[in-house]
Amino acid sequence: LVVQTNKIGAPVQPTMYGLFFEDINYAADGGLYAEMIKNRSFEFPENFMGWEIFGHVDLKNDGPFERNPHYVRLSNPGHPHKWTGVENEGFFGVSFKAGEEYRFSVWARVPDGGSSKIRVELVDTKAMGETQTMTQQEITIDSKEWKKYTVILKPETSVTKGKLRIFLSKPEHTVDLEHISLFPVDTWKGHENGMRKDLAQALADLKPGIFRFPGGCIVEGTDIDTRYDWKKTVGPVENRPLNENRWHYTFPHRFFPDYFQSYGLGFYEFFLLSEEIGSEPLPVLNVGLACQYQNDDMHAHIAVDSLQPYIQDALDLIEFANGDTSTKWGALRAEMGHPAPFNLKFIGVGNEQWGPEYVERLEPFIKAIRAKYPDIKIIGSSGPNSEGKEFDYLWPEMTRLKADLVDEHFYRPESWFLSQGARYDNYDRKGPKVFAGEYACHGRGKKYNHYNAALLEAAFMTGLERNADVVHMATYAPLFAHVEGWQWRPDMIWYDNNNSVRTASYYVQQLFSENKGTNVVPLTMDKKNVTGAEGQNGLFASAVYDKDRNEYIVKVANTSSEPQELNIKLAGLKKKDVITGVTAQTLSTKDLDSENTLEEPNKIVPSMKKFAMEEKADWTTVIEPNTFSVYHFK
Ligand code: AHR
Repeated sequence: LVVQTNKIGAPVQPTMYGLFFEDINYAADGGLYAEMIKNRSFEFPENFMGWEIFGHVDLKNDGPFERNPHYVRLSNPGHPHKWTGVENEGFFGVSFKAGEEYRFSVWARVPDGGSSKIRVELVDTKAMGETQTMTQQEITIDSKEWKKYTVILKPETSVTKGKLRIFLSKPEHTVDLEHISLFPVDTWKGHENGMRKDLAQALADLKPGIFRFPGGCIVEGTDIDTRYDWKKTVGPVENRPLNENRWHYTFPHRFFPDYFQSYGLGFYEFFLLSEEIGSEPLPVLNVGLACQYQNDDMHAHIAVDSLQPYIQDALDLIEFANGDTSTKWGALRAEMGHPAPFNLKFIGVGNEQWGPEYVERLEPFIKAIRAKYPDIKIIGSSGPNSEGKEFDYLWPEMTRLKADLVDEHFYRPESWFLSQGARYDNYDRKGPKVFAGEYACHGRGKKYNHYNAALLEAAFMTGLERNADVVHMATYAPLFAHVEGWQWRPDMIWYDNNNSVRTASYYVQQLFSENKGTNVVPLTMDKKNVTGAEGQNGLFASAVYDKDRNEYIVKVANTSSEPQELNIKLAGLKKKDVITGVTAQTLSTKDLDSENTLEEPNKIVPSMKKFAMEEKADWTTVIEPNTFSVYHFK
């Protein structure tokens, strides 16, 4: 392999290697969003879904929050041996850990005046065949007006499938309860409406350049009424309305009856998270079309001449992110806690819409955004679809519309990843740039997040890197999955309520992201560009220079089942440039089907080895079979 150090090439965009977040697989409610109570505002269509009620409980619907009007009234059960209360099952259980603190909060009032009391408990319903209380607190409700009450619960025992229980402890005095919430105190950055710390940390550890949200199909909705509507996701959480999740129904014929979006994790939280993990925010908005699978449905399309409210949503979103505090939406951002702009630079419009109905709707969005915000870069979308069908007419349309980037998706088998090393070598350099916005190798075998899939993703990604001048963003997808509630796999990070595991694909993403360098550098094998094409022994590779670290970084994926000798030569080094050593980071395992699991999270993790550089500018090593290595020449 020859690295042409005297031909420093295109800059690697800071947006390279990022995150695609979608509320699929219980990624938001039940996942990253640390709320532990399901259906906290009694707004699910079955209002008591997730709740057990006992004694005298009534559902009311004239509560203090206009968009979430339901609440419960707890009254005298009528007999000293009866109790009134409610109990929540959480998401796959209310899981709590010994010694940790949990913030319970509730909006409450005593409708008849005076004062009453409730007892809040974390319970284990399965402890030695009976329900045991692990911690409890009493709260005095002392007002006829709605007020928020908060207590900290600190259990001494860890329970995975626990519950939250609330009793009316002064039965003669009725109380009303609304927005019943429980969060760990120790969330990411300590935010009260916060995120699970381990999951947010896993995102930060990827050093993502771009953070795309809120999806995927979520953006489109199963039908247009259930699309992700960002304006409903900002402002006080208590008044964010419930939305049905696109993945409530999934294919083939699976149904997740309790899968809704509380919108507790809304656009403000997404922007803030982007900022805190150091990535550029990339919101994607609905183009006036519902999810592709419903294209023939009458509820799926907004007529082109009725698109104005949707276009206005896009303009208002930019104002929400960037407007000063004298603007309507900028003021809301400030009120929510962030007076400084979020400095939004990109916006996506539409997702996986491949027909002409997409192009005709995208056009007025582009015109309106360009007219008001000429600096915002707009991302359109293109194929291929999940069967691998490419939509050749779409790129020319994106070029005609002057989209800045085009979002391509690849959920494809091993053969596809092995054949696409050179995919971008011949893309038009003058047209829109590429956002490889969703991709993952979908193995044809039984395993899903197995090592071989990750290795082939690494092979493919060398092609993204070599084409740094045209590929500006790339995000693996989907990001998250709860082991007890997934709809789609593979996924990058899996978790249960207590722990999470980073897959081999995660480590591939991290190796690229942490070592993306600042400029691509040409790399040849036997005088030909390395692309992984036939005749290159299953080797895929790319090289970058990192001017900040002053090192050359060569990434090699050996997808063959043979060890291969690699002679890496740094051609054209200036006299003053002395390579002082090589460090290799390697991801490898003999069992291609093996995967990291919650039980064995560290089966496949990168290892690091240092070598002395024996001869200046020329180094020989052996790359093991089915191995991905990142070589640093310092
Ligand atoms: O990532 C899962 C889904 O795959 C996304 O929602 C959609 O864009 C694609 O079909």
